[in-house]
Amino acid sequence: PDNGLARTPPMGWNSWNKFAGRVDDAAVRGMADAMVSSGMSKAGYVYINIDDTWELGRDANGNVTTNKKFPDMKALADYVHSKGLKIGIYSSPGPKTCAGYEGSFGHEVQDAKTYASWGIDYLKYDLCSGLDIYKDDAPTLQAIYQKMGQALQETNRPIIYSLCEYGRASVWTGWGTKSGGNLWRTTGDISDRWDSMDKIGFSQIKIAEYAKPGHWNDPDMLEIGNGGMTADEYRTHMSLWSLLAAPLIAGNDLRTMTDETKSILMNSEVIAIDQDPEYKPVVSVSSENKVEVLMRPLHDGSVIVGLFNRNDALTDAQFARSILPANLTGKKTKVRDLWKHEDVKMEGDTFKATIPSHGVVLLKISSR
Ligand code: DGJ
Repeated sequence: PDNGLARTPPMGWNSWNKFAGRVDDAAVRGMADAMVSSGMSKAGYVYINIDDTWELGRDANGNVTTNKKFPDMKALADYVHSKGLKIGIYSSPGPKTCAGYEGSFGHEVQDAKTYASWGIDYLKYDLCSGLDIYKDDAPTLQAIYQKMGQALQETNRPIIYSLCEYGRASVWTGWGTKSGGNLWRTTGDISDRWDSMDKIGFSQIKIAEYAKPGHWNDPDMLEIGNGGMTADEYRTHMSLWSLLAAPLIAGNDLRTMTDETKSILMNSEVIAIDQDPEYKPVVSVSSENKVEVLMRPLHDGSVIVGLFNRNDALTDAQFARSILPANLTGKKTKVRDLWKHEDVKMEGDTFKATIPSHGVVLLKISSR
């Protein structure tokens, strides 16, 4: 059954991409503070999510315990809530997490109750050692994920459920929704490099039609601001994830963002694409010479057109007005560049741009 959450893709922050095992109570509090002071929370980012490495083991009653990095999870959750934010945590359906910490195997109901008692609002459930003990097929994976999905719902606390199963058994085609997932990973892990982000991002267009409100494809968390890509590449990352209606889970250090990083993560006109209230999937208009033209209609009758240059050199790109839906093929349209934040012109019935290597021109086209 649907838990009614995540009508638009979840937005927040997660510890893994930047901190991996170095996340602790102080870092999480610092991130909550920075989420508010930087303007990220105003831009729509809500969840502060702790990834792998927080568990110690179990007490005599089988309750999961936290290690010394997290002395009091309830107090930490209260702190995050006091900032007007929500908090997420992480576990595995296997006996161990990927980093070798305590998993939820055999304790699913008990752990869900523990999370709810701490005030947890989001669970990422990472397959990890589950792969060693369970069969790797859709019915089995659905059953193990559904077990936790149901346990979370039975707590009666609204808890976003994030399936982390690396896209196994075509999760997007049905079993992800049936197990109660609000989002599901569709690929292996992202890393902070162009070739990783490029490969993951552009592989997702063909499955965009499977996403729907409450149940989103998750091509993994953002690397924006982590330093391994150029600003053009990070703008491509943000544009593509928003066109895909991917969860926007920042993975950088929010306490030390440059103005450029802020301008990418907090571009409200791009976030509005991701968060469009009536989800319509992105489609590929053309894909020639490693220039991708993508289009996504929004609820207000406008469309977004993204021209992406996947080449290692400056490349010309264009599209013709005739690709647009009927309400926008007349001359009375407004074309706005969502990264320049200004209106631009079409030359007659063609839009032309020269795009930097790995860069994007992202346009919103509406009738005037
Ligand atoms: C694998 C997941 O895909 C990552 O996002 C991260 O959660 C790590 N496991 C943590 O061990």
